Amino acid sequence: MTSHPLRSRNWFGRNDLDGLVHRSWLKAEGFSDAVFDGRPVVGIANSWSELTNCNAHLRQVADAVKRGVWSAGGFPLEFPTISLGEVLMKPTTMLFRNLMSMDVEECLRAYPLDAAVLLSGCDKTTPAMLMGAASADVPAVMVTGGPMLSGKWRAEELGSGTDAWRLWAERRAGRLTDEEMCEAESCMSRSSGHCMVMGTASTMASVVEALGMTLPGNAAIPASDSRRLAMAEMAGRRAVEMALAGGPKPSQILTAHAFDNAIRADMAIGGSTNAIIHLVAIAGRAGVALPLARFDELSKTTPFLVNLRPSGKYLMEDFFYAGGLPVVLKELLPLLHGDALTVNGKSLADNVRGARCFNDDVIRPLSMPLAGEGGTVILFGNLCPDGAVLKQSAASAHLLAHRGRAVVFEDHADLHRRIDDESLTIDENSVLVLKHVGPRGAPGMPEWGAAPIPARLLKRGVKDMVRISDARMSGTSYGTVVLHVAPESAVGGPLALVHDGDEIELDVPRRTLTLRVDDAELARRQAAWKPRPPHFIRGYGRLFLEQVLQANEGCDFDYLRGRTPVRLEDTAGPSHS
Ligand code: FES
Repeated sequence: MTSHPLRSRNWFGRNDLDGLVHRSWLKAEGFSDAVFDGRPVVGIANSWSELTNCNAHLRQVADAVKRGVWSAGGFPLEFPTISLGEVLMKPTTMLFRNLMSMDVEECLRAYPLDAAVLLSGCDKTTPAMLMGAASADVPAVMVTGGPMLSGKWRAEELGSGTDAWRLWAERRAGRLTDEEMCEAESCMSRSSGHCMVMGTASTMASVVEALGMTLPGNAAIPASDSRRLAMAEMAGRRAVEMALAGGPKPSQILTAHAFDNAIRADMAIGGSTNAIIHLVAIAGRAGVALPLARFDELSKTTPFLVNLRPSGKYLMEDFFYAGGLPVVLKELLPLLHGDALTVNGKSLADNVRGARCFNDDVIRPLSMPLAGEGGTVILFGNLCPDGAVLKQSAASAHLLAHRGRAVVFEDHADLHRRIDDESLTIDENSVLVLKHVGPRGAPGMPEWGAAPIPARLLKRGVKDMVRISDARMSGTSYGTVVLHVAPESAVGGPLALVHDGDEIELDVPRRTLTLRVDDAELARRQAAWKPRPPHFIRGYGRLFLEQVLQANEGCDFDYLRGRTPVRLEDTAGPSHS
């Protein structure tokens, strides 16, 4: 039944002791001889976990994938991967993204798999799985878990994260009671699925669809909509076809053109700033050079089209009903590489040409964008020689060109100790600078960049200030927040040299971030700078600190970049003792 030699036959098709062992031990799960008849083995990499609420429904999704694999004549075998739950895992899931990618890569390589279906959902699980699959280069199709249904509180729609931050600011300003907060808390997350604003999970699902690694229309289907399971079933069927054909493999899909398409899609949807780091990391695995400057080039020529929080008004459920990502890609087609190959074997253009928009206030046509430029911009300057990122679509227009005096916090603990201190000299024109929250400094580059506005300013109606750090920001957050400053302060980047009262100039139209301190004074401060002791001296934490690259390089480990493709001739060694 196969048109392409199957790698799994090296395990199950052998007429020797190893073949006997491989078949016999798997029969312990109750499989009959029929599954060893030469059909392709499809691995279902499942990041299900009760500790990752966004992925807690993925067992049901895996069952739907299995249905598809069986019905297409394949043999599905589900296996668990590490799971990274954004809200519960401390200090940050970003510390473990590369670890999860290694888990996925090595399992794809070590087991008898001819193709894989990757089940992800929460923020880091999607890039981690794709990084692993790109390095192993096994034919793979991704199915994300889908967003939650819209939050509903009284007559209001609540978006995960975005409205939590807004309501918490109201609470701190004394305009919301504890009882109201508690009520809103229960109404915000009312179904399975990931955050349902255009946060990192929704962005990554969209970006992966634009890369061509999911079936068309995957990103926006709500987790609890039956069509999510139908999508999973179709992915299982498609994985069997890919195994039989020997591809397409990630290396055929993840090309420079595909990354351009993904970046344009990211800009048009007002995607999370985190997508930039993850795309650079995925590209690094695929052997595609993706400098930050490329993001800015494409941002300048990609209109912002999707009216979703935190940059706009609606939620992912509305995006799905409006037609989802295929509509956005269809609008963008004149700007895209439409001939890019996708996992269903068709081109991106073929997949989206028939897409229809059912609400053009949610997804604007190219002729009537929300803004002429993309959501995210890249800044350079003496404060960020290797770049920094700002989400202009979620920033305040009046702060996009701003000069102010720095109020410096040495780390996250210092920020929370002093931000509401009445003696702190700070006003709405100040520039809040947060150090030691980058890849090595925090460590793991947590989402601490959207630092809180002092309560006394909130009470006066101040809703936004310029904030600068080497941290990331939740994709659900908003504000004039400069992130990913590179090199980071913990390795002696210029951010480490900022003092209270220094003047800082942000100029988004000119894409610059400048510390107005003369070079001689900066050299004096640099000479006096000393690194802090490492956070970890053993284990994975030590590996992370020794190997992690800076934000502009995707925060991958240097030695993980590139591919070691799984080979057809890979065989199991001695399998039993
Ligand atoms: Fe998982 Fe937001 S917490 S996507």
